[in-house]
Amino acid sequence: MDPMSTRPRISTRISAISESATLAVDAKAKAMKAAGRPVIGFGAGEPDFPTPGYIVEAAVEGARDPKNHKYTPAGGLPELKQAIADKTRRDSGFAVEASQVLVTNGGKQAVYEAFATLLDPGDEVLAVAPYWTTYPEAIKLAGGVQVDVVTDESTGYLASVEQLEAARTERTKVLLFVSPSNPTGAVYSREQVEAIGRWATEHGLWVVTDEIYEHLVYGGAEFTSIAHYVPADHVVILNGVAKTYAMTGWRVGWLIGPKDVVKAATNLQSHATSNVSNVAQVAALAAVKGDLTAVAEMREAFDRRRQTMVRMLNEIPGVFCPEPKGAFYAYPSVKGVLGKEIRGRRPQTSAELAELILEEAEVAVVPGEAFGTPGYFRLSYALGDQDLAEGVGRIAKLLSEAV
Ligand SMILES: Cc1ncc(COP(=O)(O)O)c(C=O)c1O
Repeated sequence: MDPMSTRPRISTRISAISESATLAVDAKAKAMKAAGRPVIGFGAGEPDFPTPGYIVEAAVEGARDPKNHKYTPAGGLPELKQAIADKTRRDSGFAVEASQVLVTNGGKQAVYEAFATLLDPGDEVLAVAPYWTTYPEAIKLAGGVQVDVVTDESTGYLASVEQLEAARTERTKVLLFVSPSNPTGAVYSREQVEAIGRWATEHGLWVVTDEIYEHLVYGGAEFTSIAHYVPADHVVILNGVAKTYAMTGWRVGWLIGPKDVVKAATNLQSHATSNVSNVAQVAALAAVKGDLTAVAEMREAFDRRRQTMVRMLNEIPGVFCPEPKGAFYAYPSVKGVLGKEIRGRRPQTSAELAELILEEAEVAVVPGEAFGTPGYFRLSYALGDQDLAEGVGRIAKLLSEAV
């Protein structure tokens, strides 16, 4: 027998990576739509607004400049790194130099590089569940072990220091902190952030803080960077332009950290992808250097939609949705509907219920299985007011048939 045939075709490491459930739901909804079905998608994690005109214009200008047609430093355009450092001081109150910034292909690459740079096999990462679907894959690929700290609707999906402490072991190296959270919209108060930061410091943990939704907070909630409360040589900040400036397709994010971490992550990136597209970086520069008017306008629309969605969801028997305070997601429990009969079927899991809703009501939601907590749905409210009301209305109508 050919000795090669006994080896797996796909490496064990990569076979362990699953498809992004959020992108899969979005793709299925888009395919159904393309086939002429009136699908309403709550799956996508992106603003429905176009990128502001002044940012697009900067990119057009940038594309015309021959210097942007060439390779540039793998870690990012120096002027963009400086602008990101300035913006971090403004928004997170955290002083960093340009040499502590690495510009990445979206926040996603920053997530991968952060864990690849910090973790050795067996190192544990504390992650609050429900968590964004990309983290476990990035941690696994780096050889790390994710330890879930599970929260639920009773606390608005907020983890306490006691819960974190109960999950900490000798092998814990990193606390992954995400506020505002995807998928729950939970936002920790300043006091809670401080308490968690002090606890992480006391135990010598690294903190990886994903601040990509920093400007999307509502109803008096405030964003607080945990970077304030942990030593600067033990914190890595992840961020990007995608959500704040409606720039998901441009693929610009960044990682900020101590110089040795940034240097090591830049080495990795120099062999993996080199510099992020210069045109996209020029667009990001216009965004980061500019003011926050565009996000203020989006925030107003999101806030209105958030309130409509939460009210409509809470009117559905068997559904309960705590008020999300940030990002653009609602995360209702649908446990009260599971096991009931709807149109001749009896969905037992949120994944089955989501499938039924897509087929029967032509509405796409992401089941909680994708975020480590079955029994829930994630619905993005970054879509038009009319579609939003129509979509949640369809879910309500279908679920009202449950017996
Ligand atoms: C919490 C969180 N972090 C990071 C990202 C990465 O965004 P991008 O790669 O589009 O910049 C996302 C996108 O959905 C997110 O929700």
